[in-house]
Amino acid sequence: MQRKVDFLIIGSGIAGISYALKVAAYGKVLMVTKSNADETNTKYAQGGIAGVMKFAGIDDNYEKHIQDTLNAGDYINDEAAVRIVVTEATDRINELIKWGTSFDKDDQGKYDLAKEGGHSAHRILHHKDNTGWEIERALLQQAQSHPNIEIATHYYALDIITQHHLGEFVNSKTKNVQCYGAYMLNMHTQQTETILAKITLMASGGAGHVYESTTNPTIATGDGVAMVYRAKGKINGMEFVQFHPTSLYNPAEKPAYLISEAVRGFGAVLKTIDGEKFMHKYDERESLAPRDIVARAIDNEMKTRGQDYVYLDCRHLDSVEFEKHFPNIRAKCASIGIDVATQMIPVVPSAHYMCGGIKVNEHAQSSIQNLYAVGECSSTGLHGANRLASNSLLEALVYSHRAALHAATIVNIVEYKTQLPDWNASRTASPEELVLLTQSKREVQTIMTNYVGIVRSNLRLKRAFDRLLIIHNEAELLYQKTTVSVQLCELRNLTKVAYLITKAAMQRHESVGLHYTIDYPKKQ
Ligand code: FAD
Ligand code: SIN
Repeated sequence: MQRKVDFLIIGSGIAGISYALKVAAYGKVLMVTKSNADETNTKYAQGGIAGVMKFAGIDDNYEKHIQDTLNAGDYINDEAAVRIVVTEATDRINELIKWGTSFDKDDQGKYDLAKEGGHSAHRILHHKDNTGWEIERALLQQAQSHPNIEIATHYYALDIITQHHLGEFVNSKTKNVQCYGAYMLNMHTQQTETILAKITLMASGGAGHVYESTTNPTIATGDGVAMVYRAKGKINGMEFVQFHPTSLYNPAEKPAYLISEAVRGFGAVLKTIDGEKFMHKYDERESLAPRDIVARAIDNEMKTRGQDYVYLDCRHLDSVEFEKHFPNIRAKCASIGIDVATQMIPVVPSAHYMCGGIKVNEHAQSSIQNLYAVGECSSTGLHGANRLASNSLLEALVYSHRAALHAATIVNIVEYKTQLPDWNASRTASPEELVLLTQSKREVQTIMTNYVGIVRSNLRLKRAFDRLLIIHNEAELLYQKTTVSVQLCELRNLTKVAYLITKAAMQRHESVGLHYTIDYPKKQ
């Protein structure tokens, strides 16, 4: 089956929906998502969205936010991208409010701005401790009532379509790779469909499930990055995987539940199991240092003491205010028997955010023509070697806007590609292969956790690379002879992303930001 749309969007998080709401003025939009419409990383965002909002009496300005972002990114950010995102934040956040997002206000009716690690000012707008849920709700409500936007849930994008599918030779040096749309697996019918689009947006989110423990929901398997890499698009910065310092230590639970950094911004303090503060040994900002520093400090304390977690101490905080700001976190802890007013919360670092991704320019254009990429799957240069807390929702909004402005100028010039072949589905399945899939996925996660995690070394990376190659080859073989399925494709994509992270890490001969290796001393 083939169908045509002006704009195809892969992903229904903040990046996909905010772009959809803008391009819908210029043509028919099809937004696909592999799960329910709201099952996205966006929905689980807790802390909030950073932005200098120019409210009277606020001791903040764009330059401070710019410097904090550069500092967190270890100064290898693209400064132009940083300036774009920070200075366009005010308009984009106001737009989010206009679309119906509600952010918390104080008793005087002013926005209640929170602080998180690496920020020199209170500048995080939030909705209690479930900001992402509120943003996703408001955006989806707008999209669902828009006559030009169709949302197709449980549609799994298999690959973007390029001239490769017309039999032309394409490699990473091919200059004019073009995107004509994407092949989709309709998960309701198990049929593959060809979606022709003038413009395609990749907004497929992160890849937390490359690791054993992650705060990301199960949709985060790096599909977009893997698809674009297969199509010979440029990928950038994959070595920079952000581990959130404080996910709830509850080994039976997957994905890991996040204890927002805003809790530390509110005054909570990291302690060892013996109740000793330790962050002063690592950074003068202590518990509110940037994430790479805090995650490494926790990792070091756990390893040197042989302990499985550290504590986050909230006992000294005003419990009425705590409940007001963090009702979901308090309730979650209570559900596993922890009263945050009297007991400390056990926490561990977990894979949280992919700083690298599909390389894009200032209009969110990828290196493939008519393919844009926005949000966590993209690499704009904003984050450099480490993302500043609460900058990712903002980045997605700013670049979706820019992508939409640019796409609107070309949509009437681009023509649909005709005579594209349908997906080749002539494969066979055998039940025992399911076991291979689950085990290979586990192997990838174990390798990445053990050898390509918070602390790395040349030896560990080489070991990971060699093992990943075996799994990669096995996955490709399986892919060639097995009926296509979400599980199979996710394994293939996770393996590809694991390979990209490991390869990028092996090529970086220094410790910088999130990439910390014992073989190269940290640059001063
Ligand atoms: P997502 O919101 O993840 O959406 C991805 C979409 O792509 C989904 O609809 C998914 O189904 C779809 N998709 C993926 N692959 C396919 C495929 N093959 N076919 C079809 N559809 C596909 N950032 C902040 O700035 N502030 C915060 O407070 C914050 N807190 C966070 C807390 C948690 C627990 C987590 C996990 C992340 C947090 N982040 C936060 C990061 C932020 O939420 C994400 O980076 C951001 O929401 C990503 O948005 P996105 O639109 O790019 O992707
Ligand atoms: C958090 O609330 O700690 C997450 C913020 C982020 O990832 O930006």
